[in-house]
Amino acid sequence: MKSEATRIYEALGDSGKVTVLTGAGISAESGISTFRDSGGLWEQYEIEDVATPEAYAVNPSLVQGFYNTRRAHLGTVQPNDGHRALARLEELLGDRFTLVTQNVDDLHDRAGSRRLLHMHGELYKARCAGCGVVVEWRDDISLDDRCESCSASMRPHIVWFGETPFYMEKEIPDACSDCAVFFSIGTSGMVYPANTLALKVKAAGGFCVEVNLEKTTDSGIFDLQLEGKAGETLPLLVTELENLTRS
Ligand code: OAD
Repeated sequence: MKSEATRIYEALGDSGKVTVLTGAGISAESGISTFRDSGGLWEQYEIEDVATPEAYAVNPSLVQGFYNTRRAHLGTVQPNDGHRALARLEELLGDRFTLVTQNVDDLHDRAGSRRLLHMHGELYKARCAGCGVVVEWRDDISLDDRCESCSASMRPHIVWFGETPFYMEKEIPDACSDCAVFFSIGTSGMVYPANTLALKVKAAGGFCVEVNLEKTTDSGIFDLQLEGKAGETLPLLVTELENLTRS
């Protein structure tokens, strides 16, 4: 790990920025299913049935039920050492750090990450299908739940397939165009536009690191690959970066 950390530290320099993209793999060790691994959520459900605006129009109770189950499960799990390591990295770098997550769980938030962009939405929020107001929401969302402002129905605050992810107009492109080091952690790189971010960083001259259990279809893009569990790899890496920064 030491030589890898040194390469990252050298790429970062004294004032370089870090942008991190996380996917379902970082929450796997907390007990949340990934999507495309063996036994993952998309083996149990069809995307077209539960994660599109069309599915919600045709069968809203099936869609609400899918997210209600996931929201209830989220209350039973805890952040792991991978989430905590990224919060430590943010402490070390301050405003030189941005975390972009595809995950709709709140495990990064609970681990202490603050410079955090939930590009695919958040399970603990609901959105009015009419006026778009977003509110905190811990319980099941039912078809009878209505917006307090305009009385339209409430939907999960989740980006479905066919919808545009959040923060893609400015915050995420900016974080990719001016970072010295980019980490892609626990994501298969199968979903657009998250899977274009490493290429944006490369085009701008940044150093790209992948942390994953295995090679992905995008692995060739990365300058460095750290194969292993995020919950084991990240704490070691962040400790090395802390030591290098203080030495
Ligand atoms: P995937 O399920 O597609 O990929 C999970 C990745 O995590 C795989 O590459 C695994 O090898 C890796 N992995 C699993 N356990 C790991 C561990 N302990 N440490 C490190 N890596 C591990 O999940 P995502 O790439 O996040 O979108 O999926 C992207 C999007 O597709 C999701 O945000 C969701 C989904 O459909 C929406 O619902 C809009």
